[in-house]
Amino acid sequence: MGNSVVTINNLVKRFPVGGDFFTALKNVNLSLEKGEFTGLVGPSGSGKTTLLNVIGGLDSPSEGSVTVLKKSLGETSHNERAELRRKNMGFIFQSYNLLPVYTVFENVELPLILNKVDPQERYNKVAQAIEWVGLSDKINSRPAMLSGGECQRTAIARAIVHEPTLVLADEPTANLDAENSHHIMKIMVKLNKELSTSFIFATHDEKIMDYLRRIIHLDDGQIINDEQIDRPKSGS
Ligand SMILES: Nc1ncnc2c1ncn2[C@@H]1O[C@H](COP(=O)(O)OP(=O)(O)O)[C@@H](O)[C@H]1O
Ligand SMILES: [Mg+2]
Repeated sequence: MGNSVVTINNLVKRFPVGGDFFTALKNVNLSLEKGEFTGLVGPSGSGKTTLLNVIGGLDSPSEGSVTVLKKSLGETSHNERAELRRKNMGFIFQSYNLLPVYTVFENVELPLILNKVDPQERYNKVAQAIEWVGLSDKINSRPAMLSGGECQRTAIARAIVHEPTLVLADEPTANLDAENSHHIMKIMVKLNKELSTSFIFATHDEKIMDYLRRIIHLDDGQIINDEQIDRPKSGS
């Protein structure tokens, strides 16, 4: 447990639906170590996003315990969970969620401003993160001037600029073509290797699966298989 990033015990998640409840996660048990490159894989509606949201402290369990980066989320306040996200976690979404009036640089800089990093260090870290994702020539562009792949690379830079321990990515390739999907997966494999950043993907994209080193199959709110991949097809 020394390098445990996520530990989940007997997690149940119910949503109220029209006077009744819908059970989106049914007794989920899961443990993830630092540096893992893991996918939550399953059909639409199987509970992938719900599980990511619970891990990110964005949604709370109905039953069970969730420990993320040594913090038992049930025993933390809203502000403590926000601080955990701001300092130690990065988020990547299908729809990029970039601020349209900000440039690439300014979008990537935001997490560092929230973490009160001083301007010189901010500049260096933002430039480095943008270089990692290969967008140094677009540093002053706004999202409307970028392709989908470039937007997602900006979102990756924003997710990792503060060097988080854990990155959560919900269907990051869903809006991208094959070439761009492979490109962003290669970037994340490299970050995982060089910075030991742990990644958890929610996906049903076959292209992503070739890069994963662990595949957790979800169906109808349950883990039905947990598979270690010693030699991913792509990504070494
Ligand atoms: N806020 C909510 N209220 C009611 N039902 C929800 C809510 N969020 C998700 N669900 C339901 O929980 C199930 C799992 O959803 P989700 O985690 O989004 O699945 P996935 O990401 O695998 O497509 C779905 O049946 C969905 O309709
Ligand atoms: Mg989803």
